[in-house]
Amino acid sequence: MNKRKILITSALPYANGSIHLGHLVEYIQTDIWVRFQKMCLPKEEGHEIYFVCADDTHGTPVMLRAEKEGITPEELINQVHAEHLKDFTDFHIEFDNYYTTHSPETRKHSEDVYTKLKAVNPSLITTKDIEQFYDPKKGIFLPDRFIKGECPKCGTKDQYGDNCEACGAAYAPTDLIEPYSTVSNAALVMKTSEHFFFRLSDDRCVNFLRSWIQEENHLQSEAANKMQEWLGESEKNNLSDWDISRDAPYFGFEIPDAPGKYFYVWLDAPVGYIASFKNYCMKHNANFEEFWNKETSTELYHFIGKDIAYFHALFWPAMLECAGYRTPTQIFSHGFLTVNGEKMSKSRGTFITAENYINQGLDPECLRYYYAAKLNGTMEDIDLNLDDFIARVNSDLVGKYVNIASRAAGFLVNYFDGHLADIISLDYGKSIELKQLESSKHGLHHELLNKVGLIQAHMENRRYNQAISVIMTLTDKVNEYWDQQKPWEKAKQIKNSPTELAMNHPIRFSLHLVSSITIECFRILTIFLKPVLPVLAEKAESFLNVDPLRWIDLKKPMKPGHQIKAYEHLVTRVDRKKIDAMIEASK
Ligand code: MSP
Ligand code: ZN
Repeated sequence: MNKRKILITSALPYANGSIHLGHLVEYIQTDIWVRFQKMCLPKEEGHEIYFVCADDTHGTPVMLRAEKEGITPEELINQVHAEHLKDFTDFHIEFDNYYTTHSPETRKHSEDVYTKLKAVNPSLITTKDIEQFYDPKKGIFLPDRFIKGECPKCGTKDQYGDNCEACGAAYAPTDLIEPYSTVSNAALVMKTSEHFFFRLSDDRCVNFLRSWIQEENHLQSEAANKMQEWLGESEKNNLSDWDISRDAPYFGFEIPDAPGKYFYVWLDAPVGYIASFKNYCMKHNANFEEFWNKETSTELYHFIGKDIAYFHALFWPAMLECAGYRTPTQIFSHGFLTVNGEKMSKSRGTFITAENYINQGLDPECLRYYYAAKLNGTMEDIDLNLDDFIARVNSDLVGKYVNIASRAAGFLVNYFDGHLADIISLDYGKSIELKQLESSKHGLHHELLNKVGLIQAHMENRRYNQAISVIMTLTDKVNEYWDQQKPWEKAKQIKNSPTELAMNHPIRFSLHLVSSITIECFRILTIFLKPVLPVLAEKAESFLNVDPLRWIDLKKPMKPGHQIKAYEHLVTRVDRKKIDAMIEASK
């Protein structure tokens, strides 16, 4: 069989802020996909799947924040690295490597990419003088977000460089009247300096990109259309060359042979994917070259938010291609999180950090489940409606799924010492004594197994919402079966019987069979949900007394006589008080 080798990434979060529930849309989405792939393509069978990420550490904001806090940028990024990793671990995001772009590997590969782009003939690197806002007091060129001034249209003061909050006008920072620095309050001046550019508008890049976006589903159709727009009609194109340098002082890597010039953070950030994987390979003796050479047959998938599609769908593949590296297999863009239908907002208390969610004692798997129930593999925004969150998680997970286990396990443990009945030979019609139990080939657990292909296809295509919908329909069926069979009545009869009923007495046998079929269905549902709910699945494995469940275990039912342990608490209801406290704490 074909052994697959897959490298998967999430975008590298900035080291100048905390992880919030918006970020988690991405990291949870990727983690679910990685876990699903690892379950389907186990390492023991020779498949290799890696999930890497890192902090995106460079740039002016990190430099300025460190200065404000009176620490070095290195101290700041180390601190943030530990915080980010804790947040991700809390939400069960399981990276194979979580690294940093401030690393020797990133420096080496950034220089390598740059040097190769420069060396092609004619060169793809050029220089140009450009004029930019300069803060004379701090002695730095300022990114737009640190620039404010008077609205050119209505004259309102203290407006940001892109649009006016008072009149809604959109404009460029250079249009602002009396622009000033929000860092030092100094009036800004225009200053010229030399910048380095990657010649994205060159035919070699444009022609490559034109064919790349049309081939092999590299992009979702929405993203491909957007790219077509960026690229423009044939003959002429809309692309401009990309400014890849920043002047000192800058926290980043100095450009080789260009003292005082640094790589712009967006040049070394995606190189961080390569670097994090390289770092993993060095630690674990894995084959780095095999994944990054131009002729590779390995697969590379990037999960990103739609806001950074431009960088990943244009600059990144063009850079890789022209520097002689492999290009991505697919780029998966997702939409943005809204909370209660609106943009996350500090004043409404909906700008919720990962830490705040955890601090309220809320279960991270509830959020994982809710996101899975919403994510559809497109670039549409997704809404976290807090009322719906409470209702949905409590109804689906607590009311439906977990309920199956607690009911069936109770009877099995109390009446049969945890031992399972023979539901397997019944499948083959050997001992069908109770036909009404629908335990034949067309029985309930086969109904579940019939959906494996469908669920798998939905998961593969990141339509987790549809996978969840199928899984929940099956969960309803299992509960309906239980309710129809009324095993509690049988238990009562057994209890009330004056003499102990033999194991093969129809009443006892029927209770045994119904509970065994139901617990087997629970096992199947647990496999389906395991990529989404890894910790819950682990607890379920422990009380089911089975080895870590993989996708192939779907078709390997628990054996007759297999002994389960007593039911273990699996998930706690979402408590509205905790949600309210979380909102308060986020204000
Ligand atoms: N540092 C860059 C990525 C560099 S990748 C080489 C960056 N960082 S970020 O911290 O702003 O965002 C990290 C990821 O989280 C991005 O893919 C971004 O789209 C995603 N999200 C950030 N806020 C989000 C929401 N509110 N909703 C959904 N995804 C969001 O971009
Ligand atoms: Zn205005």
